[in-house]
Amino acid sequence: MDYAKEILRLKKEKNAIILAHFYQEKEIQDIADFLGDSLRLSQLAVETDAKIIVFCGVHFMAETAKILNPEKKVLLPVMKAGCKMADMISPNALKRYKDEHPDTKIITYVNSTASVKALSDCICTSTNALKIINHYLDNGEKILYCPDQNLGKYAMKLGGREFDVWDGCCPIHHFLKRDNILALKKKHPNALLIAHPECRLDILEISDYVGSTKQLLEFTKDSEANEFIVCTEKGVIYAMEKASPNKKFILASNTLSCVNMKLTTLEDVYNCLANETNEIFVDEEVAAKAKVALDKMLELSK
Ligand code: 13P
Ligand code: SF4
Repeated sequence: MDYAKEILRLKKEKNAIILAHFYQEKEIQDIADFLGDSLRLSQLAVETDAKIIVFCGVHFMAETAKILNPEKKVLLPVMKAGCKMADMISPNALKRYKDEHPDTKIITYVNSTASVKALSDCICTSTNALKIINHYLDNGEKILYCPDQNLGKYAMKLGGREFDVWDGCCPIHHFLKRDNILALKKKHPNALLIAHPECRLDILEISDYVGSTKQLLEFTKDSEANEFIVCTEKGVIYAMEKASPNKKFILASNTLSCVNMKLTTLEDVYNCLANETNEIFVDEEVAAKAKVALDKMLELSK
């Protein structure tokens, strides 16, 4: 079967939209109506008039789309596609922290489960984390940033202000080694080093640009440079090469591949759209609390 063709037909027939993250496989990126980073995909989920959202990404992303659109059908082609960082914080552990620190505001990275979001004051993504953290600190609040230690430490370094940080991370970004990156820089002296803020601080400190997947893509489009060492998941390089076919993109390490993001195939997308299976449901009470924290993010990132 020509899955791509059938997906296009079904999309029209069912008034469905396909949202895909930049870490998805090339063939999924090619059939998506919109590609984006976590923030853009959340905003698109709010803006769309489609009745069905097929979310090609990982579980927390589809769950976020459902929380923001309770009346729409949100489908995740592969239910077991999770996020290793989201698994590094449990609602019980966060509850314990909150009991011990009742005056601390909880700023939670979007890579988290709905139950963790429900215990948070505000959500953020790699695009708006610095703005949101600074908003709370400027108001004199004590904060916990969770679960990504690296983005938290980066925000502390830039702002020169201390706050509590959870010790989670994205293993894919976290295990990139500064020495290997320095060696790559030596080998490619004209290349700019660009990194996702989930990388360790010692890599972010030597980067020419730090940003979300979408911001990294935009940077490579607008930059006068012709060569880039890319410190994020390899899927984004496909989008970069498409946008700037004459530029050279060097993946910082072959280990930069998110297994969960790579699970989705065209056949999975076709099956879930054809049969309307793999629907995401979120407990109503949890969703209502998580939505308050997500809406706060959307309001603060305007
Ligand atoms: P972005 O929001 O930058 O797309 O990041 C999502 C993610 O999971 C990074 O590992
Ligand atoms: Fe989660 Fe890391 Fe995969 Fe992003 S790359 S979805 S943070 S495991």
